[in-house]
Amino acid sequence: MKSWDVIVLGAGAAGLMCAAEAAKRGRRVLLLDHAKRIGGKILMSGGGRCNFTNYHIEPSAYLCQNPHFVKSALARYTQWDFIGMVEKHAIPYHEKTLGQLFCDESAQDIIDMLLEECKDAGVTISSRAQIGQIERLGGNDDTSEAEGFSVATASDTYTCQSLVVATGGLSMPKLGATPFGYQLAEQFGLKVLPTRAGLVPFTLQPVDKATLEPLAGVSLPVVATSEDGTRFSENLLFTHRGLSGPAVLQISSYWQAGEQVLFELLPVGKLAQGIKDHPNQELKTWLGHQLPKRLVEALFLREEWASTHITNKPLKQYVPKEIAAIEQLLSAWAIKPGGSEGYRTAEVTLGGVDTNELSSKTMMAKKVPNLYFIGEVVDVTGWLGGYNFQWAWSAGWCAGQAV
Ligand code: FDA
Repeated sequence: MKSWDVIVLGAGAAGLMCAAEAAKRGRRVLLLDHAKRIGGKILMSGGGRCNFTNYHIEPSAYLCQNPHFVKSALARYTQWDFIGMVEKHAIPYHEKTLGQLFCDESAQDIIDMLLEECKDAGVTISSRAQIGQIERLGGNDDTSEAEGFSVATASDTYTCQSLVVATGGLSMPKLGATPFGYQLAEQFGLKVLPTRAGLVPFTLQPVDKATLEPLAGVSLPVVATSEDGTRFSENLLFTHRGLSGPAVLQISSYWQAGEQVLFELLPVGKLAQGIKDHPNQELKTWLGHQLPKRLVEALFLREEWASTHITNKPLKQYVPKEIAAIEQLLSAWAIKPGGSEGYRTAEVTLGGVDTNELSSKTMMAKKVPNLYFIGEVVDVTGWLGGYNFQWAWSAGWCAGQAV
């Protein structure tokens, strides 16, 4: 068959959801993907267990130039709706932490569930599809009389009334990521906001490497704060390449090149309490009970400590000025990352198709009737913890009701 009601480009999280929903409404749906295997990114996600949503989904957990944009879709298809689907398919799952829901067994369960939904609804899925030229049929004007689109692949040319772009962002090119969706948006005159890697580890400046690289493997709870005041209480992990762990991944989405990040290693007041409780203990010994010992050793070697001229001595000997200086260093340890590891390891792509170009209810392009953008290709990026998949499900579901 060459003529379809709906063609969905990209069989990732958003595309699979959209295709299944549209087909449930009786639409004839073709889902195209260039990958050999459907759902590669889902399979890799959540360490192979797919953190498929979060109990605490809320619009404030999303970065988007228009923060109101996500509200409609997240309210129309909620985390509870997706959990309902997971339960309908009897997939065992659990809450890991902070409302994050993971499969008990394998992320493959989520892929199988979506493929089953697609199959039951009658979606035709074509993998290894090399997508070529896409054209609008019925002229390139901005009227709603447009007849649809033609989609050329290496083997065929298809036509459809509605075209849904669900080709994702730029993160993890090894898993099939391409800029295809952004290019298509531009082809149709839609604005694409600059993209950058999000939920990504930081690399170190040369000046920090000598003291911090040897800490690879050390992990501790911190509060990470970006220059815009966003804060996350999560774990910091030192790696051979730089800084990682959930605290860093989260704050990376709020970080711009050249900015510093503050890490609260110990809260203000903790040292004062230590002085009361252990007046005769030396600072290094006391700190070694509060923080990983390797980190304490490294901190004492660093320039910011040396420049305070604070020496190691029993806690009771510190004068208020020294206590304030130590507290400042420990509660707001400033690191200026050299950069991020980039799309190679980033979980998501910030930026993308400008949401001002889209209907927040249906995801249809305002200027181009019957053209839809869903999922990560859109300028919507969630926090770590199942928020990005929920956006893919919600946006995919909304478009699925409209196409
Ligand atoms: P997605 O990237 O899933 O799908 C896009 C599809 O389009 C792919 O199948 C691709 O092959 C296809 N495609 C691209 N270009 C094409 C072209 N030119 N022609 C044809 N097809 C093309 N989120 C979360 O909430 N919980 C989690 O646990 C994780 N874990 C995680 C781990 C890792 C390693 C990564 C990289 C990412 C995550 N994420 C995550 C983020 C999550 O995977 C991401 O937000 C969604 O997959 C986005 O769904 P989309 O459907 O928009 O894109």
